[in-house]
This record gives sequence, C-alpha cells and structure tokens, in this order.
Amino acid sequence: MVLSIGTNKIKTAVFISGTGSNLKSLIKFSKLNKSPISINLIITNNKFAKGLKYGTIFKIKKKIINFKNKDIAEKKILKELKKNKIELICLAGFMKILSKNFIKNFTGKILNIHPSLLPKYKGLNTHKRAIENKDKYSGCSVHFVNAKLDSGKTILQKKVKILKKDTTDSLAKKVLAQEHKLYPKAISKIFSL
Ligand code: GRF
Repeated sequence: MVLSIGTNKIKTAVFISGTGSNLKSLIKFSKLNKSPISINLIITNNKFAKGLKYGTIFKIKKKIINFKNKDIAEKKILKELKKNKIELICLAGFMKILSKNFIKNFTGKILNIHPSLLPKYKGLNTHKRAIENKDKYSGCSVHFVNAKLDSGKTILQKKVKILKKDTTDSLAKKVLAQEHKLYPKAISKIFSL
C-alpha cells in the first residue's frame, strides 16, 4: 500500500447513506491509539441518513451531496476531499456507485464493506439470496474498490453460520455485528506493514 503512517493518522472520509452503524464502529476504532486512521469527514447522498448524528455527536465535519447529477456530485466530493486533505475513503453502506473517473483519483485508497462472502452475492439483497440458496454460511467482506461493483481485491472476510431458523433480518443482524469488528481489523491489516 502506498500510504504510510507518519506521526499523524491517515485522514479518512466515511461515505454513508443510512443508519451508519459501521461509521460508528469506525469512529470508535479511530479514537484508539493503535488506530492508523482518523475520521475527518462524513459524506452522504441522503440528507435523512440516520448516521449523520454521529457527525454531530463526535464533532466530525459532515457534507450532504445531492446525487441528482452524478458528475457534479462527484466533482463536489472531490473538492471536499481535497480541502480536508483526505487520504483514505471508507464506504460504509453508501448506496451510490462511484464512477471510474472518481475512483481513478483514489486508486487503492477506497475501501468498502459488503454483507456477503464475496465473490458471492455482489449487489443488493445478499442475505435473502444466501437463505434462498440454502447456503450454510454467509458473512461479510472488506475489499478495495475498483471500477467494477463489489469486485476489488478482498482484504478480510468473516464467516457467519446460517441457522435453519434464520430470517433475512436475523441473519442481517448477525452479519452486521461481525461487520463492526471486521472493518477496523481490515484497516489495521492494510496499514500494518
Ligand atoms: C451494511 O450491511 C453494509 O455491509 C452494507 O450496508 C449496510 C450498512 O449498514 N453495505 P450501516 O449503515 O453501517 O448500519
């Protein structure tokens, strides 16, 4: 990885669209001494995103970006990232697909968390598909983001057993609890060299 840890932590932006429970876990992790990152900016496409409250609670700058025009939206985001000297982007439940052009500006510096054992179940409704296919395990993956959806190199995965009694909701809950541990672990892993 190109980034290195100096005396300062790696300035990170987290992109969210909803609840922001992964954002919360990343903020908590960032406060630890051993964390290589600090969270300096929260970006959302959704002004109603519940996760925005963590920006208020932890005094982190928030930016709401209207995605009606993706090209303009991405230009605005890039400007914000530059202004805040952001070096790493963590997507955490961000429901917009970033363009190739945008990603080019941050090659190898955008991470995502996905609620399946990639390469299985890219895209949406991962838990429903895992249950319908009678899979024995589901789980979550943290991966680098490239131009293809949910297809960049995997950093870490965590398996979760699917029980007979599991519903989409109960499985989502179990996987989410693991996501909260896996994202910080994956970040530690890529910066531990
Ligand atoms: C998580 O399951 C994440 O893997 C997926 O969207 C969900 C976001 O949850 N991409 P939260 O907003 O972090 O609570």
